[in-house]
Amino acid sequence: MNKNWINNKTVVVTGASGGMGKGIALKLITEHNCTVIGIARSEEKMKKVVEELGENASSFSYKLFDVSSEQNWLDFANELKENGTKIDVLINNAGILPKFDRFQNYTVEEIKKAMDINFYSAVYSMHALLPMLLESDSPAIINVDSSAALMSLAGTSVYSASKSALKALTESIREELRGKCYVGIICPGFTKTDIFRNQSESDDKAQKALNMVSTSCERMVKMIMSDIKTKRPLGVHGFDAAFMNYFGRITPVQGGRLFSAVMKASKLPLFDPVFKDK
Ligand SMILES: NC(=O)c1ccc[n+]([C@@H]2O[C@H](COP(=O)([O-])OP(=O)(O)OC[C@H]3O[C@@H](n4cnc5c(N)ncnc54)[C@H](OP(=O)(O)O)[C@@H]3O)[C@@H](O)[C@H]2O)c1
Repeated sequence: MNKNWINNKTVVVTGASGGMGKGIALKLITEHNCTVIGIARSEEKMKKVVEELGENASSFSYKLFDVSSEQNWLDFANELKENGTKIDVLINNAGILPKFDRFQNYTVEEIKKAMDINFYSAVYSMHALLPMLLESDSPAIINVDSSAALMSLAGTSVYSASKSALKALTESIREELRGKCYVGIICPGFTKTDIFRNQSESDDKAQKALNMVSTSCERMVKMIMSDIKTKRPLGVHGFDAAFMNYFGRITPVQGGRLFSAVMKASKLPLFDPVFKDK
Protein backbone atom coordinates (compact mmCIF):
# COMPACT_ATOMS: atom_id res chain seq x y z
CA MET A 1 0.00 0.00 0.00
CA ASN A 2 1.40 3.37 -1.02
CA LYS A 3 0.80 5.43 2.13
CA ASN A 4 1.67 8.59 0.21
CA TRP A 5 -1.26 8.32 -2.17
CA ILE A 6 -2.90 11.32 -0.45
CA ASN A 7 0.08 13.61 -1.15
CA ASN A 8 -0.60 16.63 -3.37
CA LYS A 9 -4.34 15.93 -3.67
CA THR A 10 -7.11 18.49 -3.75
CA VAL A 11 -9.42 17.70 -0.86
CA VAL A 12 -12.83 19.04 0.14
CA VAL A 13 -13.26 18.88 3.95
CA THR A 14 -16.60 19.78 5.54
CA GLY A 15 -16.57 21.14 9.06
CA ALA A 16 -13.02 22.42 8.52
CA SER A 17 -13.52 25.44 10.77
CA GLY A 18 -13.12 23.51 14.03
CA GLY A 19 -12.59 20.25 15.87
CA MET A 20 -11.52 17.20 13.91
CA GLY A 21 -12.23 18.73 10.50
CA LYS A 22 -9.82 21.55 11.19
CA GLY A 23 -7.21 19.06 12.47
CA ILE A 24 -7.57 16.92 9.33
CA ALA A 25 -7.31 19.97 7.06
CA LEU A 26 -4.14 21.17 8.81
CA LYS A 27 -2.49 17.74 8.57
CA LEU A 28 -3.40 17.34 4.89
CA ILE A 29 -1.78 20.66 4.11
CA THR A 30 1.27 20.62 6.36
CA GLU A 31 2.19 16.92 6.12
CA HIS A 32 0.88 15.95 2.69
CA ASN A 33 1.15 19.10 0.62
CA CYS A 34 -2.57 18.93 -0.20
CA THR A 35 -4.76 21.77 -1.36
CA VAL A 36 -7.80 21.93 0.91
CA ILE A 37 -11.16 23.53 0.27
CA GLY A 38 -12.77 23.80 3.68
CA ILE A 39 -16.52 24.13 4.15
CA ALA A 40 -18.36 25.45 7.21
CA ARG A 41 -20.54 28.41 8.19
CA SER A 42 -18.41 30.59 10.46
CA GLU A 43 -16.06 33.01 8.72
CA GLU A 44 -14.55 34.00 12.06
CA LYS A 45 -13.46 30.41 12.72
CA MET A 46 -12.21 29.96 9.13
CA LYS A 47 -10.07 33.08 9.45
CA LYS A 48 -8.43 31.53 12.52
CA VAL A 49 -7.61 28.41 10.48
CA VAL A 50 -5.97 30.61 7.85
CA GLU A 51 -4.02 32.39 10.58
CA GLU A 52 -2.88 29.10 12.09
CA LEU A 53 -1.65 27.90 8.71
CA GLY A 54 0.72 30.86 8.42
CA GLU A 55 3.01 30.40 5.44
CA ASN A 56 0.94 27.42 4.26
CA ALA A 57 -2.26 29.48 4.07
CA SER A 58 -2.21 29.60 0.26
CA SER A 59 -3.01 25.85 0.24
CA PHE A 60 -6.32 26.53 2.03
CA SER A 61 -9.44 28.18 0.71
CA TYR A 62 -12.88 28.11 2.24
CA LYS A 63 -16.53 28.26 1.29
CA LEU A 64 -19.11 29.35 3.79
CA PHE A 65 -22.33 27.42 3.45
CA ASP A 66 -24.73 25.18 5.30
CA VAL A 67 -23.96 21.59 4.26
CA SER A 68 -27.56 20.52 4.90
CA SER A 69 -28.90 22.33 1.82
CA GLU A 70 -28.82 20.42 -1.49
CA GLN A 71 -28.83 23.67 -3.46
CA ASN A 72 -25.62 24.78 -1.73
CA TRP A 73 -23.87 21.62 -2.93
CA LEU A 74 -25.19 21.99 -6.49
CA ASP A 75 -23.94 25.61 -6.53
CA PHE A 76 -20.56 24.52 -5.14
CA ALA A 77 -20.21 21.75 -7.77
CA ASN A 78 -21.07 24.26 -10.54
CA GLU A 79 -18.54 26.74 -9.21
CA LEU A 80 -15.82 24.07 -9.25
CA LYS A 81 -16.72 23.18 -12.85
CA GLU A 82 -16.78 26.80 -13.97
CA ASN A 83 -13.40 27.48 -12.36
CA GLY A 84 -11.94 24.27 -13.78
CA THR A 85 -11.05 23.09 -10.26
CA LYS A 86 -10.49 19.34 -10.10
CA ILE A 87 -11.00 17.56 -6.80
CA ASP A 88 -9.66 14.17 -5.74
CA VAL A 89 -11.01 13.58 -2.24
CA LEU A 90 -14.19 14.42 -0.33
CA ILE A 91 -14.21 14.23 3.48
CA ASN A 92 -17.69 14.56 4.96
CA ASN A 93 -16.99 15.52 8.54
CA ALA A 94 -19.41 18.32 9.53
CA GLY A 95 -21.89 17.17 12.13
CA ILE A 96 -23.87 18.08 15.22
CA LEU A 97 -24.67 16.22 18.44
CA PRO A 98 -28.19 16.87 19.75
CA LYS A 99 -28.56 16.98 23.55
CA PHE A 100 -28.85 13.63 25.33
CA ASP A 101 -32.61 13.22 25.72
CA ARG A 102 -35.52 10.85 25.36
CA PHE A 103 -36.92 10.44 21.87
CA GLN A 104 -40.27 11.98 22.76
CA ASN A 105 -38.61 15.13 24.12
CA TYR A 106 -37.12 16.05 20.74
CA THR A 107 -39.27 18.09 18.42
CA VAL A 108 -39.67 16.69 14.93
CA GLU A 109 -37.83 19.79 13.72
CA GLU A 110 -34.80 18.94 15.90
CA ILE A 111 -34.82 15.39 14.56
CA LYS A 112 -34.99 16.58 10.95
CA LYS A 113 -32.17 19.04 11.59
CA ALA A 114 -29.89 16.29 12.89
CA MET A 115 -30.73 14.07 9.91
CA ASP A 116 -30.16 16.97 7.51
CA ILE A 117 -26.74 17.91 8.88
CA ASN A 118 -25.40 14.46 9.80
CA PHE A 119 -26.87 12.38 6.98
CA TYR A 120 -28.39 14.33 4.10
CA SER A 121 -25.36 16.62 3.85
CA ALA A 122 -23.31 13.57 2.79
CA VAL A 123 -26.05 12.42 0.41
CA TYR A 124 -26.02 15.83 -1.31
CA SER A 125 -22.24 16.22 -1.37
CA MET A 126 -21.62 12.74 -2.77
CA HIS A 127 -24.42 13.10 -5.34
CA ALA A 128 -23.12 16.44 -6.53
CA LEU A 129 -19.39 15.66 -6.48
CA LEU A 130 -19.06 11.95 -7.34
CA PRO A 131 -18.85 12.42 -11.14
CA MET A 132 -16.05 14.94 -10.62
CA LEU A 133 -14.25 12.74 -8.06
CA LEU A 134 -14.29 9.79 -10.44
CA GLU A 135 -12.29 11.83 -12.96
CA SER A 136 -9.38 11.78 -10.51
CA ASP A 137 -6.58 9.17 -10.82
CA SER A 138 -7.03 8.42 -7.14
CA PRO A 139 -10.53 9.35 -5.98
CA ALA A 140 -11.66 8.95 -2.38
CA ILE A 141 -14.62 9.62 -0.11
CA ILE A 142 -14.19 9.50 3.66
CA ASN A 143 -17.23 9.87 5.86
CA VAL A 144 -16.63 10.75 9.49
CA ASP A 145 -19.34 8.78 11.26
CA SER A 146 -19.49 7.93 14.97
CA SER A 147 -19.40 5.14 17.52
CA ALA A 148 -23.11 5.98 17.84
CA ALA A 149 -23.56 4.14 14.54
CA LEU A 150 -22.14 0.98 16.10
CA MET A 151 -24.64 0.83 18.94
CA SER A 152 -27.69 2.94 19.91
CA LEU A 153 -27.88 4.01 23.53
CA ALA A 154 -30.73 5.49 25.57
CA GLY A 155 -30.56 9.25 25.05
CA THR A 156 -28.89 9.12 21.63
CA SER A 157 -31.78 7.94 19.45
CA VAL A 158 -31.64 10.83 17.01
CA TYR A 159 -27.85 11.10 16.76
CA SER A 160 -27.50 7.32 16.42
CA ALA A 161 -30.20 7.21 13.74
CA SER A 162 -28.45 9.89 11.69
CA LYS A 163 -25.04 8.24 12.04
CA SER A 164 -26.39 4.71 11.41
CA ALA A 165 -28.00 5.98 8.20
CA LEU A 166 -24.66 7.45 7.15
CA LYS A 167 -22.88 4.16 7.90
CA ALA A 168 -25.41 2.10 5.94
CA LEU A 169 -25.27 4.44 2.97
CA THR A 170 -21.47 4.51 2.95
CA GLU A 171 -21.14 0.72 3.20
CA SER A 172 -23.26 0.22 0.07
CA ILE A 173 -21.38 2.90 -1.84
CA ARG A 174 -18.05 1.40 -0.72
CA GLU A 175 -19.01 -1.89 -2.34
CA GLU A 176 -20.51 -0.27 -5.45
CA LEU A 177 -17.32 1.72 -6.05
CA ARG A 178 -14.85 -1.02 -5.09
CA GLY A 179 -11.80 -0.79 -7.34
CA LYS A 180 -12.84 2.65 -8.63
CA CYS A 181 -12.80 4.86 -5.55
CA TYR A 182 -11.57 4.45 -1.98
CA VAL A 183 -14.58 4.83 0.34
CA GLY A 184 -13.88 4.88 4.08
CA ILE A 185 -16.02 5.22 7.20
CA ILE A 186 -14.53 6.44 10.44
CA CYS A 187 -16.28 5.88 13.76
CA PRO A 188 -14.63 7.96 16.49
CA GLY A 189 -15.64 7.61 20.11
CA PHE A 190 -15.90 10.64 22.43
CA THR A 191 -13.33 13.21 21.34
CA LYS A 192 -12.47 16.51 23.04
CA THR A 193 -13.95 19.11 20.71
CA ASP A 194 -16.60 21.81 20.93
CA ILE A 195 -19.32 19.39 19.84
CA PHE A 196 -20.42 19.02 23.48
CA ARG A 197 -21.06 22.76 23.82
CA ASN A 198 -24.83 22.25 24.14
CA GLN A 199 -24.66 19.26 26.46
CA SER A 200 -23.37 20.58 29.70
CA GLU A 201 -23.24 24.34 29.93
CA SER A 202 -24.43 24.26 33.53
CA ASP A 203 -22.90 20.95 34.42
CA ASP A 204 -19.20 21.08 35.33
CA LYS A 205 -19.22 17.51 36.58
CA ALA A 206 -20.50 16.32 33.22
CA GLN A 207 -17.83 18.26 31.41
CA LYS A 208 -15.16 16.65 33.60
CA ALA A 209 -16.65 13.19 33.07
CA LEU A 210 -16.83 13.70 29.31
CA ASN A 211 -13.21 14.84 29.35
CA MET A 212 -12.21 11.73 31.26
CA VAL A 213 -13.68 9.34 28.70
CA SER A 214 -12.73 11.40 25.65
CA THR A 215 -9.75 11.02 23.36
CA SER A 216 -7.82 14.22 22.62
CA CYS A 217 -8.67 15.80 19.29
CA GLU A 218 -5.03 15.65 18.22
CA ARG A 219 -4.81 11.92 18.87
CA MET A 220 -8.10 11.23 17.09
CA VAL A 221 -6.98 13.22 14.06
CA LYS A 222 -3.75 11.20 13.98
CA MET A 223 -5.74 7.95 13.96
CA ILE A 224 -8.07 9.27 11.25
CA MET A 225 -5.09 10.28 9.11
CA SER A 226 -3.68 6.79 9.52
CA ASP A 227 -7.00 5.34 8.29
CA ILE A 228 -6.92 7.62 5.28
CA LYS A 229 -3.27 6.92 4.43
CA THR A 230 -3.82 3.15 4.54
CA LYS A 231 -7.24 3.37 2.83
CA ARG A 232 -8.85 1.52 5.74
CA PRO A 233 -12.51 0.72 4.92
CA LEU A 234 -13.63 1.17 8.56
CA GLY A 235 -11.86 2.91 11.42
CA VAL A 236 -13.13 2.49 15.00
CA HIS A 237 -11.23 4.68 17.45
CA GLY A 238 -11.32 5.32 21.19
CA PHE A 239 -11.92 2.78 23.95
CA ASP A 240 -15.61 3.73 24.23
CA ALA A 241 -16.01 3.11 20.49
CA ALA A 242 -14.29 -0.27 20.86
CA PHE A 243 -16.76 -1.22 23.64
CA MET A 244 -19.73 -0.10 21.58
CA ASN A 245 -18.44 -2.00 18.56
CA TYR A 246 -18.13 -5.15 20.66
CA PHE A 247 -21.46 -4.93 22.50
CA GLY A 248 -23.31 -3.68 19.41
CA ARG A 249 -22.30 -6.83 17.53
CA ILE A 250 -22.32 -9.46 20.27
CA THR A 251 -25.20 -8.48 22.53
CA PRO A 252 -26.91 -5.22 21.57
CA VAL A 253 -29.89 -5.68 23.94
CA GLN A 254 -27.91 -6.57 27.08
CA GLY A 255 -25.24 -4.10 26.01
CA GLY A 256 -27.80 -1.29 25.81
CA ARG A 257 -28.94 -2.14 29.35
CA LEU A 258 -25.38 -2.20 30.61
CA PHE A 259 -24.63 1.25 29.17
CA SER A 260 -27.89 2.61 30.66
CA ALA A 261 -26.88 1.22 34.06
CA VAL A 262 -23.49 2.92 33.83
CA MET A 263 -25.02 6.24 32.77
CA LYS A 264 -27.58 6.07 35.61
CA ALA A 265 -24.92 5.12 38.16
CA SER A 266 -22.83 8.12 37.12
CA LYS A 267 -25.62 10.34 38.56
CA LEU A 268 -24.60 13.06 36.12
CA PRO A 269 -27.33 15.69 35.61
CA LEU A 270 -26.39 15.39 31.93
CA PHE A 271 -28.35 12.14 31.76
CA ASP A 272 -31.30 13.27 33.92
CA PRO A 273 -33.56 14.04 30.94
CA VAL A 274 -33.04 10.45 29.79
CA PHE A 275 -33.53 8.56 33.05
CA LYS A 276 -35.47 10.80 35.46
CA ASP A 277 -39.22 11.14 35.26
CA LYS A 278 -40.41 14.72 35.73
N1 LIG B 1 -16.37 14.94 19.19
C1 LIG B 1 -16.84 13.72 19.35
O1 LIG B 1 -16.88 13.18 20.47
C2 LIG B 1 -17.31 12.92 18.17
C3 LIG B 1 -17.46 11.55 18.32
C4 LIG B 1 -17.88 10.79 17.25
C5 LIG B 1 -18.14 11.39 16.03
N2 LIG B 1 -18.00 12.73 15.90
C6 LIG B 1 -18.29 13.32 14.58
O2 LIG B 1 -17.13 13.93 14.08
C7 LIG B 1 -17.48 15.02 13.23
C8 LIG B 1 -16.72 16.26 13.68
O3 LIG B 1 -17.11 16.56 15.00
P1 LIG B 1 -16.30 17.54 15.96
O4 LIG B 1 -16.31 16.90 17.28
O5 LIG B 1 -15.03 17.96 15.34
O6 LIG B 1 -17.34 18.76 16.03
P2 LIG B 1 -17.14 20.34 16.20
O7 LIG B 1 -15.90 20.66 16.91
O8 LIG B 1 -18.44 20.83 16.75
O9 LIG B 1 -17.00 20.82 14.68
C9 LIG B 1 -18.07 20.63 13.80
C10 LIG B 1 -17.73 21.27 12.47
O10 LIG B 1 -18.87 21.11 11.60
C11 LIG B 1 -19.27 22.39 11.10
N3 LIG B 1 -20.70 22.40 10.90
C12 LIG B 1 -21.67 22.05 11.80
N4 LIG B 1 -22.89 22.19 11.25
C13 LIG B 1 -22.69 22.63 9.98
C14 LIG B 1 -23.55 22.98 8.91
N5 LIG B 1 -24.89 22.89 9.03
N6 LIG B 1 -23.01 23.40 7.75
C15 LIG B 1 -21.66 23.52 7.60
N7 LIG B 1 -20.80 23.19 8.59
C16 LIG B 1 -21.30 22.77 9.75
C17 LIG B 1 -18.78 23.39 12.15
O11 LIG B 1 -18.51 24.64 11.55
P3 LIG B 1 -19.38 25.98 11.67
O12 LIG B 1 -19.85 26.09 13.07
O13 LIG B 1 -18.39 27.04 11.25
O14 LIG B 1 -20.47 25.82 10.65
C18 LIG B 1 -17.47 22.76 12.58
O15 LIG B 1 -16.45 23.11 11.69
C19 LIG B 1 -19.00 15.16 13.35
O16 LIG B 1 -19.60 14.54 12.26
C20 LIG B 1 -19.34 14.41 14.63
O17 LIG B 1 -20.63 13.88 14.61
C21 LIG B 1 -17.58 13.53 16.94
